[in-house]
Amino acid sequence: MSNTRWNRFWTVFLILNPIVSFGFGLWFFSLPASFGWVRWDSYYRFLIGMVLSLGLWAPALWVIGRMFLYRFKRIGKIWKIGVGLLSIVIIAATLGIWGYLFAQPMIKSGDKPPLLLVSSSAGSSVPDLTLAAWNKTSRTITAALSSEAEPAKKIVSDSPHAHRFRFSELQPDRVYTYQLDGQPAVSFRSLPDISVEGSNPFRTVFSGDAHYGSSKRLAEKTQRMMDQWISQKDEIDLFCLVGDITEMGFLDSDWQIAIDALSPVFSQIPLIAVPGNHDALFKGYRHYLDYLHPEGLTGFEDLYRRVDVGPVHFLLLSALWGTEDISRNQIAWLETQLASIPEDHWKVVVAHCYSYASGSLFTGEPWYDHPDMIRELTPLFEKYRVDLVVSGHNHHMEALEHAGVAYAIIGTMGAALDKITYDSPASLWSRDTHGWLDVTWTEHEASLRFFQWDGALLFAHALRK
Ligand SMILES: [Fe+2]
Ligand SMILES: [Fe+2]
Repeated sequence: MSNTRWNRFWTVFLILNPIVSFGFGLWFFSLPASFGWVRWDSYYRFLIGMVLSLGLWAPALWVIGRMFLYRFKRIGKIWKIGVGLLSIVIIAATLGIWGYLFAQPMIKSGDKPPLLLVSSSAGSSVPDLTLAAWNKTSRTITAALSSEAEPAKKIVSDSPHAHRFRFSELQPDRVYTYQLDGQPAVSFRSLPDISVEGSNPFRTVFSGDAHYGSSKRLAEKTQRMMDQWISQKDEIDLFCLVGDITEMGFLDSDWQIAIDALSPVFSQIPLIAVPGNHDALFKGYRHYLDYLHPEGLTGFEDLYRRVDVGPVHFLLLSALWGTEDISRNQIAWLETQLASIPEDHWKVVVAHCYSYASGSLFTGEPWYDHPDMIRELTPLFEKYRVDLVVSGHNHHMEALEHAGVAYAIIGTMGAALDKITYDSPASLWSRDTHGWLDVTWTEHEASLRFFQWDGALLFAHALRK
């Protein structure tokens, strides 16, 4: 090849280099959870900065060569070839990483066993439940639902992979049985309506940040908690996962570990969830919606929803790292919902990212009393008299109170714990141990109890209406 052709050949790669890196950067920052990641984790900020700067390395070296080295014929030639080869390697590596990350949300590693999810509802006395399961091979499945008072009702799934069986017209606090094709029968209790005279209290358990898939998680602690929840299945009406269910939400292998572990308990106890920052990474929210959204929706705006259980109203937000991914639509939706709930009903907001919380510096950033969440969301909580805001994200448990709103942190379902080095002025009590928050609702009182993983009661306080 002549010198001119060589020059053209290398020049094409030199020009492509920053274009490919710029394209990768545009794609990365178009994804939910990316801005928050860069904002709140300075280690990844540096790493992502390095990856995005790769596209400038070869052109920069080319400029240096042109200024100082090309006058020496032999060294200049070697430098030119080296810069050309470097640009090819960087383009190949960037496209390889991009392709890998792009493909992950579309790859499913295997069958996912069933979860009993609470359907979205506004104004319902007893919400519908949706039994959701996912099959890698295409098949039609039938579920039979029955109770002592009702004969079996057959429901056929209308999707070959993502099976969703909606259990509707449920009576409050009644034992039902479902059976999937070829599987043993499973019993569960529908949700109670505490506004009905003579109703039992409504008991909800919250915990989050299990980080399934992480090598640092303490699996035996999670298992001890799961054993206690299943042994209390006749008393626990509803379980709420407060996000960071997986370590790397874009990897279906992490979801496989999570759903395999969750299904034995939460195919029998109704489940609601909010997404965490780890669940949503690199479009991992698509897996979250596939497995944990009862209506099987697919867009990022589908991550927030409302569930009503009689006079207890759960507003399940999508707050990943802070306010970076909370759209104007979501804030307007939240305000509309809060305004529509009667004064004397319980208003519960669940958001993975906390507003008020104690914490510590994480990679140099203050992970406590979140300034953006406090500025954007807490005025709404206070204006509409939200009773309780439950979050995770920080891996400790805590009870807080600010301007008449109770806050709880319960990111303690199994991930490595965070040490608290800063105490929020709003804090009433905190502890760095694994466990869960149990809330028992009656019409006029909510009893909050924080339990350690071994079942020891650590702290209790009550809210009144
Ligand atoms: Fe977490
Ligand atoms: Fe988190």
